[in-house]
Amino acid sequence: AYHNKITTDTNFFKNTTPIELIKTYGSPLYVYNEDIFRTRCRELKNLVQYPNFSVNYSVKANGNLSLLKIAREEGLNVDAMSPGEIHLELTAGFLPSQILYISNNVSAEEMQYAIDRDILISVDSISQLELYGKLNKGGSICIRFNPGVGAGHHEKVVTGGKKTKFGVDPNKVDEVKSVLSQYDLKLVGINQHIGSLFMEGDKYIEGVKSLFTIAKQFENLEFLDIGGGFGIPYNKLAGQERLDLVDLGKKLDKVFDEFATEYGKKVMFKIEPGRYISAECGLILGEVYAVKYNYDTKYIGTDLGFNILKRPVMYDSHHDIEIYRNSDIKSEKNETVNIVGNICESGDIIAKERLLPEILEGDILGVLDAGAYGYCMASNYNNRLRPAEVLITGTGDVKLIRRRDTFEDLMRNFDVE
Ligand code: LLP
Repeated sequence: AYHNKITTDTNFFKNTTPIELIKTYGSPLYVYNEDIFRTRCRELKNLVQYPNFSVNYSVKANGNLSLLKIAREEGLNVDAMSPGEIHLELTAGFLPSQILYISNNVSAEEMQYAIDRDILISVDSISQLELYGKLNKGGSICIRFNPGVGAGHHEKVVTGGKKTKFGVDPNKVDEVKSVLSQYDLKLVGINQHIGSLFMEGDKYIEGVKSLFTIAKQFENLEFLDIGGGFGIPYNKLAGQERLDLVDLGKKLDKVFDEFATEYGKKVMFKIEPGRYISAECGLILGEVYAVKYNYDTKYIGTDLGFNILKRPVMYDSHHDIEIYRNSDIKSEKNETVNIVGNICESGDIIAKERLLPEILEGDILGVLDAGAYGYCMASNYNNRLRPAEVLITGTGDVKLIRRRDTFEDLMRNFDVE
């Protein structure tokens, strides 16, 4: 019996149920739906008509190896933010030419790691451009610029604009050019990322246009990477609408064509979406162990702590909640509750003052749209085990795609003797 079921894809669990999944794999549990993941990959691959276009999945959003292999099958390329991500991507079968390493304040060793593997690097400052020149004189390079505009769902995830640490100041183009020529470097592309989660494309297009202004000051660029940030509706229960990809695609086609005409070359355009690809294919299941009133507030005590999903605590993010119940008991009334986890901090609240049908002990909760910045930001805080991840495949099978941590995992880096 399902209560408060609002998943947009009514067939999320296919042949299984949340109750069965928890029984087999334990609670809490990350569950992904392959069909939804593939759909999102395809939507973005088909975003524009412009012929020279690439979707670089930003794997920081969800780097599960099985999902990466699916992204590769779908024809996506990838971004990397660290040697660890490069390692993951090569393991998933991506070719070095399909990886763009967007570096930010990295050591010479880190840069060398990418150079040794023939992976193109984007640098984030003039000093890092110089470092690259010293390590790989005559090499090809990409530079991240800060277009002076930013956007995002929270100030912590706005990554463009005058108040952020990212990118090279476009007023420094002359200095950039002199470093390029000093080390005989070939600037093959420029990139930007103005921030995470926009639901309307206007700011994004504005950012793209300012990247064009920068691009026109360089000859023979092969690509322009215009960034990620494509938003998803986290408030589906309240009727929030999806980002209009058709409209955005049309606007992008228009500015891409304009740029290509003026530049005299059909440069490649890349985007770097993370959240849009993986958020909606994933949800977290957890169990309700204790329901109580503390003075006037009703608390629903679960195993969904901020060790499992950090977003609500870190950005006050909203995730819709579903309730699953293994009986026919109906919830007659709605009530306002705080859904909390099992971590020893009072800020450990996954849903604050949420109006929901009455939740009972023994219910299973689903935290929706948790496929992006979910597991990858989970931790072992309080020495808790990170959960398992399972995939509901296209054919409806359930596949364990990462096992739950064990006590051995927690002890691995200690000398126990
Ligand atoms: N490219 C660069 C250079 C980025 O820094 C990011 C994300 C992306 C692409 C992908 O952005 P997306 O398409 O996923 O919005 N932990 C936060 C989000 C942090 C995003 C940081 N940068 C959250 O849970 O909302």
